[in-house]
Order: sequence, then C-alpha cells, then structure tokens
Amino acid sequence: MSAPSSAIQSTLVENRVFEPSDATVKAARISGMDAYNALCAEAEQDFEGFWGKRAREVLTWHKPFTKVLDESNKPFYKWFEDGELNASFNCLDRHMGTPVENKTAIIFEADDGAVTKVTYKELLAKVSQFANALKARGVKKGDRVVIYMPMTIEGVVAMQACARIGATHSVVFGGFSAKALQERIQDAGAVAVITANYQMRGGKELPLKAIVDEGIAMGGCESIKTVIVFQRTQTAVNMVAGRDITMADAMAGQSTDCPAEMVGAEHPLFVLYTSGSTGKPKGVQHSTGGYLLWANLTMNWTFDLKDSDVFWCTADIGWITGHSYVAYGPLAAGATQIVFEGVPTYPNAGRFWQMIEKHKCTIFYTAPTAIRSLIKAADTDEKVHPKNWDLSSLRILGSVGEPINPEAWMWYYKHVGGERCPIVDTFWQTETGGHMITPLPGATPLVPGSCTLPLPGIMTAIVDETGNDVANGAGGILVVKKPWPSMIRTIWGDPERFKKSYFPEELKGYYLAGDGAVRSADRGYFRITGRIDDVLNVSGHRMGTMEIESALVAKSDLVAEAAVVGRPDDLTGEAIVAFVVLKRPLPTGDEAKAIANELRNWVGKEIGPIAKPKDIRFGENLPKTRSGKIMRRLLRSIAKGETITQDTSTLENPAILDQLAKTN
Ligand code: PRX
Repeated sequence: MSAPSSAIQSTLVENRVFEPSDATVKAARISGMDAYNALCAEAEQDFEGFWGKRAREVLTWHKPFTKVLDESNKPFYKWFEDGELNASFNCLDRHMGTPVENKTAIIFEADDGAVTKVTYKELLAKVSQFANALKARGVKKGDRVVIYMPMTIEGVVAMQACARIGATHSVVFGGFSAKALQERIQDAGAVAVITANYQMRGGKELPLKAIVDEGIAMGGCESIKTVIVFQRTQTAVNMVAGRDITMADAMAGQSTDCPAEMVGAEHPLFVLYTSGSTGKPKGVQHSTGGYLLWANLTMNWTFDLKDSDVFWCTADIGWITGHSYVAYGPLAAGATQIVFEGVPTYPNAGRFWQMIEKHKCTIFYTAPTAIRSLIKAADTDEKVHPKNWDLSSLRILGSVGEPINPEAWMWYYKHVGGERCPIVDTFWQTETGGHMITPLPGATPLVPGSCTLPLPGIMTAIVDETGNDVANGAGGILVVKKPWPSMIRTIWGDPERFKKSYFPEELKGYYLAGDGAVRSADRGYFRITGRIDDVLNVSGHRMGTMEIESALVAKSDLVAEAAVVGRPDDLTGEAIVAFVVLKRPLPTGDEAKAIANELRNWVGKEIGPIAKPKDIRFGENLPKTRSGKIMRRLLRSIAKGETITQDTSTLENPAILDQLAKTN
C-alpha cells in the first residue's frame, strides 16, 4: 500500500438529489429506505443467519450446507463449505419445468446486426452437449480451461459447460496479446483452450486462433492437450492435428443430456486474471456457492429484476462484469438478456440506442467511458443523439468500472433515461465478485457521482492507515470489515500474495479494496476517489503501472528504465504516460516520435492494445530520491503538465524534468 495521495482527499461537493418516484418504490423488491435499513439491521444482528437464509432461498443445493461461515483460517474464509451444488445447474436445469424453461435466455446481436435467440431449454441442451464434448476431449473436474472468445452465445456456453463438469475456467479478454495469453495459460496450468477462429468487431475480422497458436508456441504451455475452435466466420485457420478441433466437430454426436457434476461450495468456479501493483497479473480465484449466491441476489436487488425485463450488460465476458452480469447472474435469475458482439460506435455511435429500441431493453448497464464517448459523438453529430430513438422501454440504468463524473451522470439520466430511470452506480471489483456499494433503484435517493451506500450484509467503511474509522467528509482508505460470500478466495498459486495484498496487518484484518473514498457529511454516501495503489483505470480497464513498466524494459535492446503513471483524461478516465530512459542518446523530433511508436506497438504485443501508453516521454534519467526510489508524485505532476512546486533539490540532475516534460 503506498502513501495516500490526493486521490483520497475530498474535492467535490454535489448537492443535487434525485428521489425515486413513488411508483418505482412501490413496485420494487426492496421498497424504500425503510426496507433497505431493515435488511441492513438483519445482517448486523445475525450475520450468519442473514447469509444462510439468502443462500437457501436463492440457490438450489444438491446437498444442504450445515455451517455458513468458517473463519478458522483467516483471511481464507470459507462459506457454506459442506454444501454441494453446481453453478450451471443453478443457471439452467433449475428453470426446467417452470415458466422460464421456454423464455428467451439470450438475444444475441452480432456485429453486423444479425439476431439469434435461444431459450433456456435450448441453452441447456447446447451447454450439455458441449460439456459432453469437453469430457470426450479428456477435460474433467478440477482441470483449468482457458477461454479466449468473442462475445457470442458460444462464449457463454463455453463458460457454463466448464462449470457443468466442474472444470475451472479462466476467461482471457480477446484484446489481450499472445504473450499475455501464454502467461495466463502457464500460470493456470490449463489443459484446454476454447477459442474462435476470428472475432468480428466494428466490421473487421480479427484473429483469435492465430494468437492462441502464437501464445502456445512461446513455450511453457505443455499442459494444453486440446484446443477447441468455434468457427465464427468462414475464414480458415491453421489446425494442429491431434490437438485442435472445431466446436462443431467436437459436439457432433454428443448427447444433449449431461448431468451436472456436483461440487463443494468452495470449489473454484473460475480464476480471472487482473492487474495489481506488481508486474505479474493476479489470478483471482472465486468459489461456486458464495459467488453464485451474490451474482443472483444482486440481479434481484441492484437491478430490481422483474420477469418481464430485458437486461443488457455491455461488458465483455473477459472481465468480471461479464462473468457476474452476463454469464452467471442473469441466467441464475432467469432473466432475458442481450449479448452484443460488436462495439458501441459501429456502424455509428447510435448503435446502443438503436439496440435498446429494437430489443425493448429495460435495464441497461454500461461503463462511464462508453457514455462519455457517446456524449462526445452526439455532441458532434445530432444523428447519433439518443433522442433519435425510442428509449421508453428503459426503466433502470447502471454504471460500472470507474467513477462516473456528475456531468456524464446527468447526461445519461436526462438523455438516455428520460429523467425517469434511476441510475445504479455500482462500485465493485474483480475481487468482490459482485456489487458492493450501489444505490437500490426503488429505495436510494441518488446523488450524481456517488455510489451511495453498501448493500445489506456488506460492511464497507473508510479508515485511516491504522484501520481506524475516519469521520464523514474526510477522505480515507476503503475497506470491508467483514467477509462476504462472493469475495476472492485466494490468488491462484500464491496465497501469500493474497494475504499481503488484501489483508495487510496494519488494517486490523479488514479487506483492503485499493481505492480511496469519502463519505458525504450529510447522508454518509460513499464516493470513490480513485486507486491508492499503482493501478490505473483506463476506459474502465484495470492496468498495473508495473506491468507496463515490465513490458517496456523487456525491450532490452532499447530501453534502460521506465516509469509509468496515469493522468486524468476526459474520455478514458485515466491515460497512460510512460517515462523512458533509452540505451542510446536522447532522441528528438521525428526520431523520438518513431521510437515512441515502436515502444507503443511493443507494449501492444506484450500485453494488448489497451495497455499502449498514450504519451511516451524520453529523458536521460528518471527523477529519484537519494535512496534510488522513483519520485512518482513528481512524474504524475509532469504528466498532468503542472508546474513543479515540490522541492527538487535532492535530484541529481534537475534538468531531466524539462526533458521529461516534452511529449512525442
Ligand atoms: O477503482 C475501482 C474501479 O474499478 C476498480 C475495479 O476494477 P475491476 O476489478 O477491473 O472491476 C471493474 C468492474 C467491477 C475499483 O477498484 N471502480 C469500479 N466500479 C466503480 C469504480 N470506481 C468508482 N465507481 C464505480 N462504480
């Protein structure tokens, strides 16, 4: 944990308050603040009873649990440990024989606008058939399977099929590079990769299978025995005999019946890699029972899900939001959901609005960065303004992934929600498995830019560096004081790092989120002020500064040293700025530009295009303290273009500050 930065100081005062309408309150599952407060009180008074009751209500257990929470080996908490269930059973089989059986589970809209729908019954058959195919290829309970797929029905099928047979999936976002994929395959010790030949995004056919081949060829992936390829497009790809098979061939002849393999509640449902403050991504391990309980319950609480809803979460299955609110939560809750393959700006920036109208979407959940880019597009071209579409089907809007600035919030509220739809600004993380702090649509008065209050049973607080509560109005460190069912269980293969990163001794055993926050003086509402560690949030994507630094110095013929910081960006939230010392004289002009581009592409290859620095600055050295520590605070100021007012007398060569201020 680094020293608190300006990120945890309160700067913004927001006075606007939007109360839910009487009709919304009346119809809501959690109806009004009294109902919310009653649930919170229930959790306070009988914590285990509260969670045990929900777990029994929301999930179907093959073998009931007898103990709710085991705290004997903190922070390795265990929930519902002796209970047995299956996640896929809870998302699919459980609905058979109920009205959900023939309900549409997924409305899939492809990049080119083609629509495919599957019912719950059809989805169960597909998942079962693919689960049998996996088994036939030797995949079994406890194995790890890497999924590197586009947003498709088949992507969800792949995840559900793994869950069905008790294999632990690890989905890698389709924008990650061959190297990033190889590292994840290796770390997870995966036995299989499920991929597609290509993915379609914005009218372009982008390779996936070729990247899998490249990653595996980098070595260390000997654990991979099979590669299954969904043929998304007609273009042929290289298939390795004996190892590779198309999804269609693997499924051919397999039965559409595959009894779900029951697993213990703590069985790892998935491992999802995310960035931390070191160069190596962390494999966040989630459980089956606790995770699914929360994915399902938050669908009902945060989104106030009704049977008639058409739910649309725009997140990719490669991120946690696409796990909890595409692949698991909506299915467990029996919702109809939209899955979209493409990008919000193709064929034009009205795509989201057009799709909401077309599919009569009622709950729309997206990221502030998408909203900001669509505001910009609508400002420059009236034709893509949401006013051109009928968005009257919408009843609830959601925001996730980064702080939403009040201006973007107001635009979303007014122009998308028609001043009628509550916005649930959901704060959570890969590690939390599901929503933590969020308004409830039929209860919480909304304040733009604030995620408001924790969900019942979630014991968030703001503390100082010794773990003591700070007063409302004062900034501090966001923690969770008690465990919760969907929390991270460990870092795959590195329990020590899990303990150190999330439960530092000085914080009294509280879970450290890594964010700064402040509670408003009047309502006690939470506002997230940004990360307090070396993690950046670029367009809602989490990036470790050290990861990008490692990638830069891996270009060892050129780069001697690198430091990466973030700077605020109107569109992407934060932008990546890299300060680089080269193993050659300081370049200028076109040469500097060319080297900067070479390095950008290099980072794109090492990690993925999302990690490419926006700005690369060269210097003969980096500003360091006498003990050799890089003065990141100084670099952050330079990146923002601020005049340096801090004491620089300890710098060996103050002239480097001028060098580093130049953009390329
Ligand atoms: O900094 C917080 C920010 O995103 C981080 C978690 O990133 P990730 O694990 O990739 O998960 C993103 C999707 C849940 C947090 O530590 N963050 C997420 N949601 C919000 C947010 N910051 C402010 N407001 C939010 N609603």
